[in-house]
Amino acid sequence: MSAQTVKVGICGLGTVGSGTFNVLSRNSAEIAARARCAVEVVHVGARRDNPACELGNTRVSRDIFAVANDPEVQVLVELIGGTTVARELVETALRNGKHVVTANKALIAEFGNELFALAEEYGVTIRYEAAVAGGIPIIKALREGLAGNRIEWLAGIINGTGNFILSEMRDKGRDFADVLAEAQALGYAEADPTFDVEGIDAAHKLVILASLAFGMPLQFSSVFTEGITKLTTQDMEYAEQLGYRIKHLGIAKQTGGGVELRVHPTLIPEKRLIANVNGVKNAVLVEGDAVGPTMYYGAGAGAEPTASAVVADIVDLARALSGGQDCRVPSLGFDSHNLRDVRIVPMSEVVTPWYLRMVAEDKPGVLSRIATIFSDQGISIEALIQKAPAEGETLVPLIVLTNKAAQGSMDQAVAAIQALDSISSEVVRIRVESLDG
Ligand code: HSE
Repeated sequence: MSAQTVKVGICGLGTVGSGTFNVLSRNSAEIAARARCAVEVVHVGARRDNPACELGNTRVSRDIFAVANDPEVQVLVELIGGTTVARELVETALRNGKHVVTANKALIAEFGNELFALAEEYGVTIRYEAAVAGGIPIIKALREGLAGNRIEWLAGIINGTGNFILSEMRDKGRDFADVLAEAQALGYAEADPTFDVEGIDAAHKLVILASLAFGMPLQFSSVFTEGITKLTTQDMEYAEQLGYRIKHLGIAKQTGGGVELRVHPTLIPEKRLIANVNGVKNAVLVEGDAVGPTMYYGAGAGAEPTASAVVADIVDLARALSGGQDCRVPSLGFDSHNLRDVRIVPMSEVVTPWYLRMVAEDKPGVLSRIATIFSDQGISIEALIQKAPAEGETLVPLIVLTNKAAQGSMDQAVAAIQALDSISSEVVRIRVESLDG
């Protein structure tokens, strides 16, 4: 099929929808040159107008399904979020033979397998660059740029809100709730911000990256997820004294036992580039066997950064539609009939070094008891900080950095330490990753 103009319908006119409309209008000449055809928004579906964009004469429907059923629309852009109506909308568009572009990570992570199959059945494509790490073209990098590699692991700061909160807490000692409110006001946070701070949003993105990296079906329910709500500025300070920063990472790693899929706070050496990624910025480190370590950095959220990724997908589809030649890369980069059935490594088997913090009584024998417990589990101590008690105090904070230990062994060690009379606090523990290539 050849087209002079590719016709686009946008559903949802919030932060990303208005950003997409504005970028398509402002950069129409560059976009047309790259797509080899004009790209025109012919229909917008939105419950209300958005003062952030001037729609001019574009047709607007309050019923978004009018866009999915509009025969003129060739590419439907789903920017409404959520997984119920959005899924129905995308399915309707696919069944009507429309290509789909979405920024909806929850939709892809949870229903991508079914949606990609449906798209294939109808001979159309789903593109989702904006679903992971906002404006960073990480999907294209994994799907195409790194196609010659066996990916060993990837680790990313893939939630801008969470990174913004951790950065502000560390740099300015600001209160968690106060920074979260600012992230919401700036349009970074999810509709339900617990998705950001509990790691669900990062888990959605991680599962997508892992499927692209390892050629496996999307398995959202298998991701281990731990949020940032329990992190304290105290832990950030102790981590720095040991030469680390605390970041909320999504990690997917190919090991002898299968694939690890995990999102959790992580101590990383402060000298790593990714340890210095701050604010709403995202970064993804990918280690390929041929290329070695590569890092992708940029804005992980916000109207135009996310629109940048949405528009790139529209251009990709428009170029295929206008060129008359179908050279589209499959959604996950791998042939959907040939995905790998991998084992997801249970967390009890995941091996990392650990940071532990506890409050102990300042009396003889406490350290030796703790050391014996670690030694019984075959865990070696790497570094230790014990502060002198404050005047008149008998309790002291004790920080331990261990060598690598499986979570199963660490669980047992922590349970035994917690049971000691001389330990008067919860034992806080955070995984450590060296992230060396
Ligand atoms: N709430 C997300 C974030 C938006 O903060 O990263 C982009 O997916």
